[in-house]
Amino acid sequence: MRVTMIGAGYVGLVSGACFADFGHHVTCIDKDAQKVAALNRGEIPIFEPGLSDLVEANVRQERLTFAIETTGVGEADAVFIAVGTPSRRGDGHADLSFVYAAVREIAPLLSSTAVVVTKSTVPVGTGDEIEHILREKRPDADLQVVSNPEFLREGAAIQDFKHPDRIVVGTDDARARTVLAEIYRPLYLNALPIIYVSRRTAELIKYAANAFLATKITFINEIADLCEQVGADVQEVARGMGLDNRIGGKFLHAGPGFGGSCFPKDAIALLKTAQDHGVALRIVETVAAVNDQRKRAMARKVVAALDGSVRGKTIAVLGLTFKPNTDDTRDSPSIPLITALQDLGATVRAYDPAGMEQAKPKLETVIYCNSAYVAAEGADAVVIATEWEQFRALDLARLKSVMAGPVIVDLRNIYRADEMKRANFRYFAVGQPGVE
Ligand code: UGA
Repeated sequence: MRVTMIGAGYVGLVSGACFADFGHHVTCIDKDAQKVAALNRGEIPIFEPGLSDLVEANVRQERLTFAIETTGVGEADAVFIAVGTPSRRGDGHADLSFVYAAVREIAPLLSSTAVVVTKSTVPVGTGDEIEHILREKRPDADLQVVSNPEFLREGAAIQDFKHPDRIVVGTDDARARTVLAEIYRPLYLNALPIIYVSRRTAELIKYAANAFLATKITFINEIADLCEQVGADVQEVARGMGLDNRIGGKFLHAGPGFGGSCFPKDAIALLKTAQDHGVALRIVETVAAVNDQRKRAMARKVVAALDGSVRGKTIAVLGLTFKPNTDDTRDSPSIPLITALQDLGATVRAYDPAGMEQAKPKLETVIYCNSAYVAAEGADAVVIATEWEQFRALDLARLKSVMAGPVIVDLRNIYRADEMKRANFRYFAVGQPGVE
């Protein structure tokens, strides 16, 4: 199949490279000339394990190309739209201007039987609007518009793309279904569930899935707060709950609140859609509000661990990205945590294996360090904010020897209280009794 991907951002690049790896001929088009030039030199603009090798192999085998011009659109069996849908300034609705601009640009170029597929996360009804634009511009053609949301996670995107739990295809058109089935054939052969639904249903599945996962996290975070008050251990509560197959153990890790480019933005966009249709989604509303407050409130944990004040103290924050294996700091809990600590009079030193460049414009007065141990020098407390693998096995004796005081606040629960006690640390985690 000939596939065109409009947008070589996170979703477009991963999807394009994986489709090429399935054997299709893929052109990824992006307006950013620098990005395209870098991709053509084999440089990958984002941090994603395995992506560089995948792109390189498929470029070498001439199945994957990058362009700034809308070349090849006319030959494409399917054109995927994978441009950004950020939060619109001021009101939180998804900003669809990039999506519609892309549709207008490709409309005159499409073959008369092309299938246009939205991969970008778009509110319910966007497919209808795209169809409307295409009908207006190409009354002659039999163009189909399909919703095919992606469910990949940053840091595990290739694995998620190649081994998804399901593929959702939103269209009522038989021909469009056949084209999508052919594109996903390698997965289809592995008996992977493809569910065919209406376009509006597919659009909503994506938002509902993200909102549900965000709810699960927020639920366990509130249970963690209760655990701290009643002397229970949230990790054991989560395990005890998660072994019930109806609940499942995933996304029950208590922490500093969810971040990233999707959950916070998508929860708000879903609320806006619901409001437009006169429906109250009170659970999602509460999840968004609770999560927002939680991030900054994590500073209070640090204050409590340092006996009531951080004024004049030095805090080392390990982890600036919203989760490990990404350089993405968008809506990362570390950012409000650090600004709150600074507002309370602390000096913050920080280290992140991949996210420091992205964090710098957001956190200008932080002292950036080139390792966890350098960050810990002279610190009254170390705060673990992101569960990077390299923070899981810190040399505790070395860490303690460079610190001013033996306090660890572990917001990701990656250590055990008893090992911290043996290493003579005062240890505070989330939803578990601390050890002094
Ligand atoms: C999320 C979804 O998991 C993907 O399925 C979806 O495709 C994607 O959004 C998207 O809409 O594009 P992602 O934002 O990459 O993926 O990150 P997640 O791994 O879901 O983590 C989101 C946040 O939740 C992180 O801040 C993470 O630390 C937090 N989290 C996750 C918890 O605090 N506890 C958990 O148990 C799980």
